[in-house]
Amino acid sequence: MSSDAPRGVFITFEGGEGAGKSTQIARLAATLRAQGGREVVTTREPGGTKRAEGFREALLRGVAKPFGPFAEALMFAAARIDHVDGLIRPALARGAIVLCDRFADSTRAYQGAAGGLDPALIASLERVTLEGLRPDLTLILDLPAEGGLARARRRGGEGQEEGPDRFEAEALSFHERLRAAFLAIAEAEPARCRVIDAQPGPDAVEAAIRTAVAAHRPDLLPGEPASGDRDHAA
Ligand code: TYD
Repeated sequence: MSSDAPRGVFITFEGGEGAGKSTQIARLAATLRAQGGREVVTTREPGGTKRAEGFREALLRGVAKPFGPFAEALMFAAARIDHVDGLIRPALARGAIVLCDRFADSTRAYQGAAGGLDPALIASLERVTLEGLRPDLTLILDLPAEGGLARARRRGGEGQEEGPDRFEAEALSFHERLRAAFLAIAEAEPARCRVIDAQPGPDAVEAAIRTAVAAHRPDLLPGEPASGDRDHAA
């Protein structure tokens, strides 16, 4: 593990449905690229590589659902292995900043806390899938479940004819468990995770994200005042 220790910076975005992750990833990527220092790679899960995008399409159509949460988690893990090996590790080895829309915390929250899969099983799966890879920083975009879900379903209605995907179609109680699960992850791993209030408009959320990134890695955003990060000093 130490011989191929990544030199880049791995930042993941997590949260429930409709929290605005993709907008914020695009904005942070533009900000980081404007710094002109490191290569910036944006990617997503499930997906990110050709093979994993194939899994994504099946997963979001609900192909794995009848097999139960364990089999579904295995399919997310299979997609993740291809993504980590084919895209994330090589980019980190080049020294890139990798911004990833969802990662292993989504398996903990969706298949674990909300889907009912044993956390010990998820931890084992994580260990063998990630082989020590951990995000340097995880930004959890937090929003009340009802508002986020309405946003995601509106967006789905505009962009696709087939209606809500496999997870958007879950009951509100599932999405409330998800929100609690992401907040619990943040509480359990405060050095890695920052909770960002996703309720204000996109500009305010973007500012909060910049502050969090600058507080965590001042070298990435040298012009950014990091003093607004009141809840975590280091
Ligand atoms: P996506 O359209 O990317 O959702 P969002 O825009 O909300 O990020 O679809 C990804 C879906 O897959 C989302 O509902 C979360 C779910 N998911 C899991 O259940 N487990 C996982 O490990 C990952 C990465 C995603």
